[in-house]
Amino acid sequence: MKASPSEQGTGKVDGTEPWWRGAVGYEIYVRSFADSDGDGMGDLAGITSRLDYLSWLGVDALWLTPFYPSPGHDHGYDVSDYCAVSPRHGTLDDFDTLVSEAHRRGLRVMVDIVPNHTSIEHAWFSRARSSPNGPDRDLYLWADPAPGGGPPNNWRSHFGGPAWSLDEASGQYWCHLFLPEQPDLNWRNPAVRDEFDSILSWWMDRGVDGFRVDVAHGLVKDAELRDNPQIAPITDGMDPFDAFGAFEHRYDMDQSENVEIFRRWNQVCAPRQAMLLGEVNAPWPGRMARYVGPGALDQAFFLRAAFLAWAPETLLTMVRAMHDAAPQGISWVLSNHDRSRPVTRFGGGEAGVRRSLAVSTLFMALGGTPFLYQGEELALADGVLRGYHDPVSVRNAGATSGRDGCRTPMPWDGSAHNGFSASEPWIAAERRPPEETIAGQQADPDAPVHRYRTLLAVRRQHPDMWRAPLEWIDAPSPQVAALRRGTVAVVANLSERPTGVSLGSPGWEPAFASQPGCRLGSPAHDTVSVPPETTIVLTRVGESFTA
Ligand code: GLC
Repeated sequence: MKASPSEQGTGKVDGTEPWWRGAVGYEIYVRSFADSDGDGMGDLAGITSRLDYLSWLGVDALWLTPFYPSPGHDHGYDVSDYCAVSPRHGTLDDFDTLVSEAHRRGLRVMVDIVPNHTSIEHAWFSRARSSPNGPDRDLYLWADPAPGGGPPNNWRSHFGGPAWSLDEASGQYWCHLFLPEQPDLNWRNPAVRDEFDSILSWWMDRGVDGFRVDVAHGLVKDAELRDNPQIAPITDGMDPFDAFGAFEHRYDMDQSENVEIFRRWNQVCAPRQAMLLGEVNAPWPGRMARYVGPGALDQAFFLRAAFLAWAPETLLTMVRAMHDAAPQGISWVLSNHDRSRPVTRFGGGEAGVRRSLAVSTLFMALGGTPFLYQGEELALADGVLRGYHDPVSVRNAGATSGRDGCRTPMPWDGSAHNGFSASEPWIAAERRPPEETIAGQQADPDAPVHRYRTLLAVRRQHPDMWRAPLEWIDAPSPQVAALRRGTVAVVANLSERPTGVSLGSPGWEPAFASQPGCRLGSPAHDTVSVPPETTIVLTRVGESFTA
């Protein structure tokens, strides 16, 4: 426990900066990363056995999705004990080994904290439900039926249907922004706040370096439980996420009191240099930025880019606005375990691969801590499924294919089950071909894994890429973004045509390009011409690193 990671690979440049400045993170979807005991389910010991790969790739920090005891209705995001390891994923000893082995390699470890809701099987909920007049009732959000009967208000669950379920014994409803089996905690109750202070400390005592905060925008709800304004009709068989989007979430999400909670957490975590990284889904950049204001969350994921289909102008407009609202406060991500993989969303095939790397290259130059999602470095498209497991698809039959496509097992090699497990994986999917596996790509110098690895090395080699003040350079089209940071310049041409951009001063040379074919104007080297859907990183002559 509590081993100190070496500074190697963290991007930290002096003792005054937090460890995450300059770092690149990597999301591990624990269920699907590596299975050490052959039961088809990813586990902590499996992750430990693959740390050398992650060091080789060059990431600095790992975010582990929930591995706590859970009935598994939402694949671990329904936690029944926050301070333990599910036997499905191993033991606390396995966790301690993982942390110390990661630290020995200079890798930081972040765990996922799920504060918006517990599992319906958590002891707090059992007590709250069974004793309506007991002291624990108020740990959750209960409300009487509406005057004419039925749910107390019009709030919807993200996963379909009302955000309220009836407890017949007491005649009251409990609130759940997700599944009924994920009852929402009452963050206006100081006892809930105290419990989570202790949970954070408990994991920091075990040596964790930070927390990814699940549904950080959802914790506090309107005290009067008012109806949300409806902005679009809901139709039969609608995708549940679209039905959720048919409301302006004025009263169930993004309440200003959320930020107070993170100020309090910051006081718990900052003295121990543990990062607070929120999943924040707030409607516009100014509101996102409030969460990462001084003394609150250290960073927030910018998730809009992980939702978008290929729409370069929209993407770049959002990215610029978000960057400018919180230049160091955003963790840039193109994918996670909740959305279709970018290669698929961006058109599939070679186009999807090309576009994903072009956007990732830009994200590496925006400040904040970018995260890759497992398999992104292999340029994987969504897995081909042989059935559905995600409750979002299972419980909304026909309305959505859900989130399984991005959750299929990590393909380590071309063997049975792609080397993920000795037996049938928990999620039924087709085996990946050898060229989509880590072993296959490591053996091919032109494969995506080498491109991503080189990109991370270039970022590490040139700290100006994330540290120097960012100035946007005028770009010839809204589908092109160009920026300069000290000795680094970046041009992201996401359009379908080659583009030329003036860098404003001479003396640049390429350090990394997401595709071949970039050319510098000679002799002064103050313009660069960039092929379609390509991003180039340039450095001042004499400062470059040959990739
Ligand atoms: C977050 C998680 C998602 C989960 C939900 C409810 O959005 O990323 O996987 O289903 O929260 O906890």
